[in-house]
Amino acid sequence: MKKLYYLWQFMKGNRALYIISIGAIGMATFLLFFWPMILRVTVDSIIGEKALEAQGWLKPIFTGAFNFFGGRSGLVGKLWICSILLIIITLIRGIFLYFKGKWSAIASESIAQRIRDKVYNHLQLLPYNYHVKSKTGDLIQRCTSDVETIRRFLAIQFVEVGRAFFMVGFALSFMIPMSVPMTLVSMALVPFIFGFAVIFFIKVKKAFQLSDESEGRMSTVLQENLSGVRVVRAFARQAHEMDKFDTRNCEYRDLTYRLIRLLAWYWSISDFLSLIQIAAVLILGTFWAANGVISLGTLLAFSTFVGMMLWPIRQMGRVLTDMGKTMVSVGRIHEILDEPTEEFHDDEKIAVKGKIEFKNVSFEYEPGKPVLKDVSFTVEPGQTVAILGSTGSGKTSLVHLLPRLYDYTSGSITIDGIELKDIDKHAIRKNVGIVLQEPFLFSRTLKENIGISRINSEDDEIFEAAQIASVHDVILDFQKGYETAVGERGVTLSGGQKQRVAMARTLLMNTPILIFDDSLSAVDIETDAAIRAQLNRRARKATTFIISHRLTTLSEADIILVLEHGKLVQIGSHEELVNQEGLYKRIWNIQNSLEEELETELEKNNVKIGINK
Ligand code: UTP
Ligand code: MG
Repeated sequence: MKKLYYLWQFMKGNRALYIISIGAIGMATFLLFFWPMILRVTVDSIIGEKALEAQGWLKPIFTGAFNFFGGRSGLVGKLWICSILLIIITLIRGIFLYFKGKWSAIASESIAQRIRDKVYNHLQLLPYNYHVKSKTGDLIQRCTSDVETIRRFLAIQFVEVGRAFFMVGFALSFMIPMSVPMTLVSMALVPFIFGFAVIFFIKVKKAFQLSDESEGRMSTVLQENLSGVRVVRAFARQAHEMDKFDTRNCEYRDLTYRLIRLLAWYWSISDFLSLIQIAAVLILGTFWAANGVISLGTLLAFSTFVGMMLWPIRQMGRVLTDMGKTMVSVGRIHEILDEPTEEFHDDEKIAVKGKIEFKNVSFEYEPGKPVLKDVSFTVEPGQTVAILGSTGSGKTSLVHLLPRLYDYTSGSITIDGIELKDIDKHAIRKNVGIVLQEPFLFSRTLKENIGISRINSEDDEIFEAAQIASVHDVILDFQKGYETAVGERGVTLSGGQKQRVAMARTLLMNTPILIFDDSLSAVDIETDAAIRAQLNRRARKATTFIISHRLTTLSEADIILVLEHGKLVQIGSHEELVNQEGLYKRIWNIQNSLEEELETELEKNNVKIGINK
């Protein structure tokens, strides 16, 4: 029920149009019933000699029209009038059906478009954490095929429910006044046909679901193969991948085949029941007509009614099953919409100087598994902080706290003395530039990829940012320069070039706080040094965090933090840390001895080379 309410909510704005389209199908169905009625009058009272017989509310319409054309004597020589009437009715019916199709399509397409917009906009506002955890394929499916299920249901099936109701309702109101016994005969098997349809489709719902899920699995294999094509090629796994796809493909074929077999059974049995129903009407009707209980025209009318009525009733089972599927889709879409969004106040602006203080900060992704433990340190504006630690020690987690991608679990982080949790997320993110450890480039031009961090930035500003990131000349060397389109996932660039484009994007923001998560390690030592030198020359030097394992980078920092299993085990300048036992000194010694070894080795072989640490 709740899901029906959700569906009703989604329809907001198009409800009226949708209801009118159902009204149009009501009118079309209503007109359909005049066909057998006109045939009946033609056979009984024009060709035959019975007095015009029309019951209930139809009486004034029929007698009026009958007399208008001059009664039986007038009409008997002009049977074409009846044909023209039938054609006119068909034409008007066609117009109603056209508008029904048009309006329900407009309504359902707009509803689908609105749902997609709503979900997409909601996804934009969901926390970083949500996106890290959810599967892209699944989200895409919800935004596309689930919405499509709803659209199809609204555009086609729900209208069918309306048609079936109108059909039965009108049939009863036309049939009962003509002959109650014949109505009973015509309706005798309808409950069974309907019941069979409902029960059958409830039973095969599972088969539908299995086939759908199997299709989903097949698409996942396809999607993963295409996104991971480089891994597949690199490891020569094509044959394995083909087998995998073939298995899923066959599974899908088998399940669909089974479904089609079941449906074939359904339609055969349902056909059989329908034929019995029609046969009953014909046999009993003929018998009664022969005995003068009903007229020939009534028999003709009833046999046509039954044929018309059975089709939508047989369809109902299918519609009800699809309704179940639609409700599942509505639920899946609402799961996204029910996720709480992040609070943003776009107008809030802050001027950050860049003093940062961590006091006993702890952080955990999952309760009970702390990733950062009791971390405390202070950074003055403009200082450079280097972070060192083995993999998984919590470096990325620590810097992710600054732009509030995650919120710390306990302790306090202040920026210029203001508690970070009290600063609006948008406002802080405009002041903290971060180059992520695994940068992502969009399939757009290089200029757009860099410019994305600051809307309406001038070309000069983009060029300057690219120059600082040492990528400007590289870009100019490309045939199309800044207009070069980056392939999906940035495949046209080397790993280091990609990193530098991502860096330029962050530098363009010119933020008072800057974070490089391992990004400088992806470029060679000289470029790394050049980038840092350029950064130091900037008019307003940012408070900079650099995660790196490169000693030249680390040693030039004002403060070095050494993390081990989420704990801050060492803190100090290069001079302080080389004289302390610990990770920093160990790495320093290892790198130094390696270099000495290398130098001796090279000297032995008479090669002279200047080694940069
Ligand atoms: P980090 O991602 O902070 O480690 O994860 P790191 O120091 O930067 O490591 P490298 O050098 O880039 O490899 C710290 C811990 O947090 C967990 C990780 O499993 C790791 O043990 N973690 C990370 C999560 O539980 N969830 C996440 O979303 C990310
Ligand atoms: Mg990391």
